[in-house]
Amino acid sequence: MTDWKNPPRLFIPGPVKVDEDVLQQLARPTLGHRLKEYVQLHKETVDMLKKILYTDQNIFLSSSSASGIWEASIRNCVQMDEKVLCTMCGAFSDKFASITRSCGREADELKVDWGQAITPEMVDEKLASGNYTAVTMVYNETSTGVANPVYEISEMLREKYPDVLVFVDAVSGMVGLPIHFDKLGWDVVFASVQKAWAIPPGLTVAAVSDRALEKAKEVPNRGYYFDFLEFAKRAEKHQTPTTPAIPHIMALHYQCTKLLDEGMENVWKRHKEMGDFVRAWAKENFALFAPEEYVSDTLTTIKNTKGIDVAAVNNALQEKHNTVFGNGYGKLKNETFRIAHMGDINMADLKELLGWIDEEIK
Ligand SMILES: Cc1ncc(COP(=O)(O)O)c(C=O)c1O
Repeated sequence: MTDWKNPPRLFIPGPVKVDEDVLQQLARPTLGHRLKEYVQLHKETVDMLKKILYTDQNIFLSSSSASGIWEASIRNCVQMDEKVLCTMCGAFSDKFASITRSCGREADELKVDWGQAITPEMVDEKLASGNYTAVTMVYNETSTGVANPVYEISEMLREKYPDVLVFVDAVSGMVGLPIHFDKLGWDVVFASVQKAWAIPPGLTVAAVSDRALEKAKEVPNRGYYFDFLEFAKRAEKHQTPTTPAIPHIMALHYQCTKLLDEGMENVWKRHKEMGDFVRAWAKENFALFAPEEYVSDTLTTIKNTKGIDVAAVNNALQEKHNTVFGNGYGKLKNETFRIAHMGDINMADLKELLGWIDEEIK
């Protein structure tokens, strides 16, 4: 019988496992969101986030899932008659394009097959041929396990198209993969906290550039809940425009402290080690879905070369060990399956999981 109070240990690519010490942060006494205790919590959290994301610009905490900031980046920073280049290489980057359109803006597609990466040359070719104001990218495509070469793309953008705004969905990448926001010249980057932040869902961290805010001043009808200028106005007082998910921010403060103690270089190294471990197992037993050059260090999408019954293996794991991993996403269901190795998932967790899968597939 299903028991939501005793849920399976999660190896799906989000939400991921949350450790007990983090959960306890969500149970602290609540704070008044206009009182000085909250101001202190907010300021300290934002100061740490600036270090983690390597930025001196703006950090906003949105009490929403990440999809809210997909929409916010378009509604705040693109005029109705401007054109956006949407790079598409899987379910989530495809969605960024459909959200751009649902906000009434023109989205031009740069599309590769699921499992392939977007390269600087492709983006350059497209931008050269059109008059684009902004480009959208997904750092780490959660459906395919591809980590796009966003540093190389950004270098090209800075050199050749410095006026084009850059919106980056780093939902399953942030924390696990490097983000040097100011150096990269990005305008918006965001991630919900149920991925590598290893916090339950309900909050999104966004970095927003000063020039994105300048642009927003010219764009009408930005709405209210996701208006960057409202966020900026309140950020001056170390607050959010509306009542935020305070328990989540307490957990975020806790996670930021731990990450900075560990050092971001070490955090990225730890994720790479977990990625290497899962990839070695995947190659021994199956094959990688992403090209070797573009594999993600936060999750692995595995090609089901043995034709195993993914749902049956998952059911067995759930029954015997109260544990689940991810099936393939959308059209990749059964053809692939996915294992998350991000946040507070550790090597011991992964050894256990892969051992249990081994038992089912031998
Ligand atoms: C890359 C990516 N972008 C966006 C989303 C949507 O995020 P949320 O569910 O927090 O709105 C997800 C969710 O899995 C994702 O993996």
